[in-house]
Amino acid sequence: MSQPYTPERPARIAILISGRGSNMVALAKALMPEEIPAEIVLVGANKPDAGGLAIAQGLGLPTASIDQKAYRGDKPGFDAALDAMLAQARPDLICLAGFMRILTPWLVERWAGKMLNIHPSLLPAFKGLDTDARAIAAGARLHGASVHEVTADLDDGPIIAQVALRISESDTPDTLAERLLIAEHRLFPAAVCRHLGLPAPKIGWPEEVNRDEYFFSPPLEAEPEPA
Ligand code: GRF
Repeated sequence: MSQPYTPERPARIAILISGRGSNMVALAKALMPEEIPAEIVLVGANKPDAGGLAIAQGLGLPTASIDQKAYRGDKPGFDAALDAMLAQARPDLICLAGFMRILTPWLVERWAGKMLNIHPSLLPAFKGLDTDARAIAAGARLHGASVHEVTADLDDGPIIAQVALRISESDTPDTLAERLLIAEHRLFPAAVCRHLGLPAPKIGWPEEVNRDEYFFSPPLEAEPEPA
């Protein structure tokens, strides 16, 4: 953290998405309350039809996209355009929330120390795609999600926060992903606030969810420590 953020100088946060954007919505809603001096300065996507963009617009957030189809075979060109889009937003932190692209080392270096990713596995296990199915197929007893700093290697970089949950015998990849997503929506905002020295966000749980199924490390600050 370079400086304490204040209402006059809120933390400027950019979020990059590729799809439905449920983690983006969780971040935006968690950071909205006045007691958290943070501002979403960009929701960016690599596809103009990413479903989350319309949702972000509905929340009144600034959106932009770069059509990756226009950069087929030109990764440096896409990343230069992405870099320009980010530079315009002047973010203190960039959150990769389901952003399905491997960034060039050049871009990662440009934003070194300012980029966090959420990955649906207990890293360093199961980097890459289809983590829920792979965890079940491997006979893992626990699954989870990790928030980590972004480095040039895929799903690598220092781990900032994790959540674990038990895999039950009846879990399918879909049920496991769904159970995990509920925790991701609490993990990512908490990790972002901790990382930036902001007050811990207070995020409720849906009534039908048993929060004791989830083990967060570090613990969610807004929750009482178990006795
Ligand atoms: C999440 O599972 C996240 O961990 C992974 O991609 C998925 C994105 O979902 N990186 P959403 O677009 O945030 O709903």
